[in-house]
Parts: sequence; structure tokens; C-alpha cells
Amino acid sequence: MQIGILYSRIRKDEKLLLGELRERGHEVAKIDVRKERFGLESTTADVADLDLVVDRCLSTSRSLYATKFLDSYGVPVINSPETGDVCADKAKNSLALAEAEIPTPATEVAFTKETAMEAIEEFGYPCVLKPVVGSWGRLMAKIDTQNAAEAILEHKETLGHYEHKVFYIQEFVDKPGRDIRVLAVDGDPVAAMTRTSDHWLTNAAKGGETASFDLDDRALDLVERASEAVGGGMLGVDLMEVGGTGSGEYTVHEVNHTVEFKALDAASEVDVPARVVDWLEAKAAAAADGKEVTA
Ligand SMILES: Nc1ncnc2c1ncn2[C@@H]1O[C@H](COP(=O)(O)OP(=O)(O)O)[C@@H](O)[C@H]1O
Ligand SMILES: [Mg+2]
Repeated sequence: MQIGILYSRIRKDEKLLLGELRERGHEVAKIDVRKERFGLESTTADVADLDLVVDRCLSTSRSLYATKFLDSYGVPVINSPETGDVCADKAKNSLALAEAEIPTPATEVAFTKETAMEAIEEFGYPCVLKPVVGSWGRLMAKIDTQNAAEAILEHKETLGHYEHKVFYIQEFVDKPGRDIRVLAVDGDPVAAMTRTSDHWLTNAAKGGETASFDLDDRALDLVERASEAVGGGMLGVDLMEVGGTGSGEYTVHEVNHTVEFKALDAASEVDVPARVVDWLEAKAAAAADGKEVTA
């Protein structure tokens, strides 16, 4: 197989993936998006012979545009630009989950300081304010008081760029000091872990402690449906337990489209890169079959 990797920086995650692909004898073309141009019919990147391209761009805008252009040339891309579009934006993400009737935290979007304040007062304190685009817990605010709310809204309105003109406000979920990350491929879980922290942001990236987690039937069902709700692909599904540790009740707060796997690989018994490459091989084979049929 010839696999392209779209990237701008090779992290441990990409190294794991590249190592596994090469070990199996696949040819890997590394495509540094900073060095390429993408035209309406073709790109400077050499993509003609690739069976599949995997998007590993860190930057959301690069990821969304590069996948869109490759897709338009007929190059099979993981994840699809459609999935990326929904996952890259927390508001679209929430809507997709709600439309699929997947339990997700109550959320409101407002466009002015005044209406945002109304939403916050209605949710009550604490509640959560998130940027619609972003990850690793950046610029996320847990709002405990009216004074804090007023200050944050004013700062956002005055100092924030375009994306911060959308106020994304969410109920605070009283989770048991941890959340759950599941790596899934087209809804099939590869591995799952909990991320525990004293901080309300329990993400691994914020220093949360990780441990392997066994998914029960309810979680399996939610992961499958959440994946489908955003259009499928290689995804990181984030869940919180409602009503305490091991309650078996979950809420899905987001689905991520450029998912990291080094922490999961370390926390779980599963050989994560091997499982991911199994799936990529199947996707590449399916894409090749599709091409033959339409050729
Ligand atoms: N509504 C919420 N209530 C309580 N904790 C939350 C809520 N939303 C997010 N968190 C915590 O914050 C972390 C980051 O939130 P998330 O929405 O996943 O954003 P990011 O894109 O930064 O990963 C989660 O892993 C979870 O620990
Ligand atoms: Mg998250």
C-alpha cells in the first residue's frame, strides 16, 4: 500500500503510526502541508499513486482545507472533510450529537455579551464557556460567579478574534474527577482510557492521569452512534460519567477528528498503532475496490 501522511510536525503519535506502516512494508509519503500548494485541479504534493492519505495536521484550518482539496481530486482521505468539519467545531459537534439523540451536555450558543449572560444565568453556576474551535483545554472557562462571567465575556468580546464572537455555553457536568476517551474506527472501539485529575479539565494534555477502561454495552452503543453522527472515521470520542464513577450513565461531550494515540497506547494493553493500521489497510482496500468499480 502507498499511504500519504499529511502533517506539519511529526509527534510521537505520528512516529507510532509511521513505524507500524513501515514495519508492514507499506510505502509512506510524508506530505508537509507547509511546503505544498493546493490548486483547484491539482496539488504540488505527489498524491497520484496514493491509496489513502491520513490527515495528521495539528492545525485545524490546515486539516480542514487540505483534506477538502485532496478529496476534490478524488484522493481517499482519512478523516473525510465532512467529518472534520463537524468535529472541528464544538457547536456543530453538539448539534450532530443531539440530532442523533445521543446524551450530550445541555449547550447554548449566543452572539452577544448580553444574551450569553442570559444563558449563563439560566444554566446557573458553575457553568462552562468554551471556544467553538480549539482543543487541549485551551481557553476553556469554568464560571463560578456572576462577576467572573461578566469579566470573561467582556474580555472575549474585546480581545477575542472572530471565533470568540460565538459564545458556546454549557452546563457543568459533575463528573467523578475523570472523563473517558475512546479511540474508535468507524464506530469500533480500538482502546479506551480514563483521564483523572483534581483539575476540572481532566484531559491527558492538561496532565490528567490515564488508566485503561473497559467499555460496557451502553458506552459501546454510544461510541458507535457518536461516530456515525459525525460521519465516521478514526475518532476520539469523549464521554463523562453522569452520577458518579461506574454509574453506567454517560454523556458524550465531543468527538475529535485528529485523535492522538500515544497516551492510549501507553495506558491500554492494546497495540493501538497495529489496530489503527489494520483499519487503514481495510479502508485503502475498500477505496481501491471503489475506484475499480467506478473506473
Ligand atoms: N460541561 C462540562 N462539565 C464538566 N467538565 C467538562 C465539561 N466539558 C468539558 N469538561 C472537561 O474539560 C475537558 C476538556 O473538554 P473538551 O470539551 O473535551 O475540550 P477539548 O477540546 O479541550 O478537549 C474534558 O476532558 C473534561 O474533563
Ligand atoms: Mg476533549
